[in-house]
Amino acid sequence: MNIFSNLNNKELSDFLDKTLNDYYDQAITENLSVNLNKDGIALINANYKKAASISIDFLDKEINNKIKLRLSGKKDIFSKLFPIKNSTLLDCTAGYGRDSYILRSMGFNVTMVENSPIMSLLLNDALKKLKLLNFKMYHGNSYDYLSHSEKYYDYIYIDFMFNKLKKNSLSSKNDETLKLISFQENNKDALIRLAIKKSNSRVVVKEPKNSLSNILKPEYTIKTKLLNFNIYKGNNG
Ligand SMILES: C[S@@+](CC[C@H](N)C(=O)[O-])C[C@H]1O[C@@H](n2cnc3c(N)ncnc32)[C@H](O)[C@@H]1O
Repeated sequence: MNIFSNLNNKELSDFLDKTLNDYYDQAITENLSVNLNKDGIALINANYKKAASISIDFLDKEINNKIKLRLSGKKDIFSKLFPIKNSTLLDCTAGYGRDSYILRSMGFNVTMVENSPIMSLLLNDALKKLKLLNFKMYHGNSYDYLSHSEKYYDYIYIDFMFNKLKKNSLSSKNDETLKLISFQENNKDALIRLAIKKSNSRVVVKEPKNSLSNILKPEYTIKTKLLNFNIYKGNNG
């Protein structure tokens, strides 16, 4: 992986060069570069004919208009999954922060945890520009975070990267890139069990309909056309 930077970011660039190249398998990241410039941080994926530049921008007008439209329409799936307004919510698998940002826009007090160093870098960069209250992120494994934290959350949300039985839709370049650099949780049930202990209300685990997972049996499942949301009652309620 290459790190491109202007001179102002030399120290960060040297640090990332060492850290990211130690963490990731070179064969997977040989066509990826991190670009540090005055506007922020972008991940360049040159596996395509036209390289994709990926960054997170919560201030993007188009994204915010889409969220407004989604939340103004008929009851959104998130209000069914997380019915108590203004609750605290822990997102154990932040990724691009898309779900978390929607939930923050709905008024939840959101904490995100993300284990992939590159995703955390992109998220942190986006959060620095946003300066929103009740929206924060920690880098690391959410199992470790929950084990060491004394906090309890009303809702705990988990969106693992599941293997699918068959691909039924074209993935965006963002999602294909996420697959390359994301962390795969091998002990999904341990995280779900711990989340149940640390939740006051419920744990929600998102899963594609055609996933090959075999996770802890939920109390019940809320279904949409493409997704199953597995619901577990929090133990601290
Ligand atoms: C499918 S993506 C989540 C996408 C996210 N819901 C969104 O809206 O953009 C899963 C993410 O969770 C991260 N992840 C998986 N297991 C984790 C764990 N135990 N702790 C922290 N992050 C984890 C992966 O690195 C990946 O970025």
